[in-house]
Amino acid sequence: MSFITRRKPLGVPQPAQGVSGHGLRRTLSWPHLVALGVGAIVGTGIYTLIGIGAGIAGPGVMLSFVIAGAVCAFAALAYAEMATMIPEAGSAYTYAYHGAGEGFAWVVGWSLILEYTVVAAAVSAGWSASVSSLIEQSHWPIPAALLAAPDAGGVVNLPGVLIAAVVTAMLLVGTRESAWVNVVLVAVKLTALAAFIAFTLPHFDASHFRPLMPFGFNAHVDPDGVKRGVMAGAALMFFAFYGFDAISTAAEEARNPARDLTIGIVGSMLLCTAIYMVVAAAALGASPYDVFSRSGAPLAFVLKTLHQDFAAALIAGAAVLALPTVIMVFMYGQTRVFFAMARDGLLPAFMARIGPRGVPTWVTVFTGAVAAIIAGFVPLKEIAELANAGTLLAFVATAACMMILRRTAPTAVRAFRCPAPWLVGPAAIAGCLYLFASLPAATMIRFAIWNLIGIVVYLAYGRVKSRLAAA
Ligand code: ALA
Repeated sequence: MSFITRRKPLGVPQPAQGVSGHGLRRTLSWPHLVALGVGAIVGTGIYTLIGIGAGIAGPGVMLSFVIAGAVCAFAALAYAEMATMIPEAGSAYTYAYHGAGEGFAWVVGWSLILEYTVVAAAVSAGWSASVSSLIEQSHWPIPAALLAAPDAGGVVNLPGVLIAAVVTAMLLVGTRESAWVNVVLVAVKLTALAAFIAFTLPHFDASHFRPLMPFGFNAHVDPDGVKRGVMAGAALMFFAFYGFDAISTAAEEARNPARDLTIGIVGSMLLCTAIYMVVAAAALGASPYDVFSRSGAPLAFVLKTLHQDFAAALIAGAAVLALPTVIMVFMYGQTRVFFAMARDGLLPAFMARIGPRGVPTWVTVFTGAVAAIIAGFVPLKEIAELANAGTLLAFVATAACMMILRRTAPTAVRAFRCPAPWLVGPAAIAGCLYLFASLPAATMIRFAIWNLIGIVVYLAYGRVKSRLAAA
């Protein structure tokens, strides 16, 4: 069973080339990475999922935000240490390979596939909700059956499929170009949120926050079969906070990893959390939760209820323009995880093949195709919860590896040291497990099935083909 515990040694330079003649280029510095983080964090969570979250937690969704945000803050500190200590592509998968061994790393990498590809699909589906809001406002004759997944009363979520395809094409153009497009669109997204706050705060009504927790605190299944409560809201709204981890997948492309990654991860996390809380409070203060929770595009909906139709169109328009940055960051992260796993021999070598523009062509196309199919046919809430399950495992792994490596490699260079690691690490792990336990049972079952498939793939392929097996 030694294959499960075999570890990649620290400090051994990785072949930057994958298996062809072209390596990943160091073209990104910290402004790109903060933009990458902001681009990944603020997205479908605040524009779309906040409605569903308010529906299962009531105004207590504010507490859900605080809980999920706190767990992410602990995890972000562990990520910052690991990302600057091990600046290689692959994120939590790579940390687990160095810290805990190949078997654990495989499970984490397999879960990251669930995170990145499924998040890209979820945001594509959420983007479609804003498109639908605009279509409704402008009375375009587009059949409703083409705007929603089968379980949501349609045939296919066509806008979701199309946006996943467009973002895939943008990534194929190359990292640098995509990062600059991202910077411009992040500015659009933040301006729109600032405008939302300006339009809604004058209508703030504190009575909308009473009772604060109509469904109680703990996650519990109501007679209609839906899991509700503040913790159920936190387990869903967790989706809205993460994304900073995607920055660490760009480590091999950062010009100065120690400085750039630290500022990128911690800075973007704090900045987004602050913006995010204000937007959420403004939305809840302007409209009773049980009214706006029924809308697929709740922020635009809140503005419509205030008879601000033009502002509503602007918000939906900004979401339509800017949410693709989130899809882009996660698809980008996914291709780098595939790249790292294939380079280690755990996945077929063609997945590590980099094209002349510095982009892994085949995995980019594959990731885009899978995200498009999921976005077209699965309802948003289910996609988001499944993505959360994969992400929670990756966060647990990163916090655990941060502590393991403090013991097994105490003298290794750490450009950023997590403060109070023996408090932050266990807090991150306990918080993630609590959130995981608050997810719906169906999500846990899907997650377990996904990992069973992963273990079979590993035993049949990666265990034998691993570069460590050949060493
Ligand atoms: N945090 C990202 C979003 O809300 C995934 O879209």
